[in-house]
Amino acid sequence: MTIKTIYEASPQRYDNGMIYERCGRSGILLPKISLGFWHNFGGVDPFERSRTIVRHAFDQGINHLDLANNYGPPYGSAEETMGRLIKEDFAPYRDELFISTKAGYDMWPGPYGNWGSRKYLMASLEQSLRRMNLDYVDLFYSHRYDPETPIEETLQAMVDIVRQGKALYLGISRWPYEATKKAIDYLANHDTPLLIYQDRLNLIDKTPIESGLLELCQAHGVGFISFSPLAQGLLTNRYLQGIPKDSRMATKACLPPDRLTPELMNQLRLWNSEAEAQGITLAEKALLWILQQPNVTSVIVGASSVTQLDDNLGTLKLLK
Ligand SMILES: NC(=O)c1ccc[n+]([C@@H]2O[C@H](COP(=O)([O-])OP(=O)(O)OC[C@H]3O[C@@H](n4cnc5c(N)ncnc54)[C@H](OP(=O)(O)O)[C@@H]3O)[C@@H](O)[C@H]2O)c1
Repeated sequence: MTIKTIYEASPQRYDNGMIYERCGRSGILLPKISLGFWHNFGGVDPFERSRTIVRHAFDQGINHLDLANNYGPPYGSAEETMGRLIKEDFAPYRDELFISTKAGYDMWPGPYGNWGSRKYLMASLEQSLRRMNLDYVDLFYSHRYDPETPIEETLQAMVDIVRQGKALYLGISRWPYEATKKAIDYLANHDTPLLIYQDRLNLIDKTPIESGLLELCQAHGVGFISFSPLAQGLLTNRYLQGIPKDSRMATKACLPPDRLTPELMNQLRLWNSEAEAQGITLAEKALLWILQQPNVTSVIVGASSVTQLDDNLGTLKLLK
């Protein structure tokens, strides 16, 4: 017989140094550091490790958890992990959590399991809610822009999702500049203003600044959240001495070893010595840079251990 340990969240969870930032022009405050479930929380990962990381995150004030229909692997399994956590640990804390999910990439076979049709978005969110044991998500994203589906169809489906009470707020991820402008107008005109834009922004990839997207969001009161803020681990001490056997680069296709060019390696070493000179870690330096950009609401970190998460959380004291 297994004895389940009942989780009681730390009474100090809002006094542990987390900073909450207003998300654009909205009523929502998000923690400066959010936790993402893309990897490390899937069916292939040990559930107890995922549970330990999420409990620790919540105890440190990370109440925003970022998911998508296809996170895992396998697809859907990160949401299943979330569902089990909701059932076993977090049901009493549901109203303290801000949970997002997304649809936009290939999820099931056939023409209705991908991209941005009303059919796909509606069905996908239904499935996500079932997997996560939730009645609603706090934030529903279009995971990517669909150039083939009329933009009004995608956006109206999102508006209707809010009207149905299945999501409280709307976001878009990786949409191009012009489509983002249209989305901002359309959603504002339908009384479901765009809450947040999600894109990769880090020391290596500054595209949202260069494209003007960050400025566009700021001008319209839309929050901005950065994904892969540590470039999947490159912007940490993980690869400074080679490629560890248990690292994402050694075990997953999403971070191929050829990303680690000699030029990048030199740059990482330089940033690392600058960080050391300041008495901080490379991860802290990388996160600090993002969080100091105007209109960045939060960064979504991934973590395969509590130690990594704590390293990332160390950034907060540098912001004060
Ligand atoms: N909207 C989109 O299209 C999109 C795309 C990608 C991601 N996202 C979101 O963004 C989230 C974060 O993305 P990400 O996982 O790529 O973020 P990340 O924080 O850049 O990378 C996470 C990985 O970096 C390593 N790491 C993290 N902190 C570390 C530390 N302090 N020291 C050493 N290594 C550390 C770990 O690698 P090891 O596993 O090797 O230990 C960890 O798995 C995702 O979970 C997802 O929610 C969204």
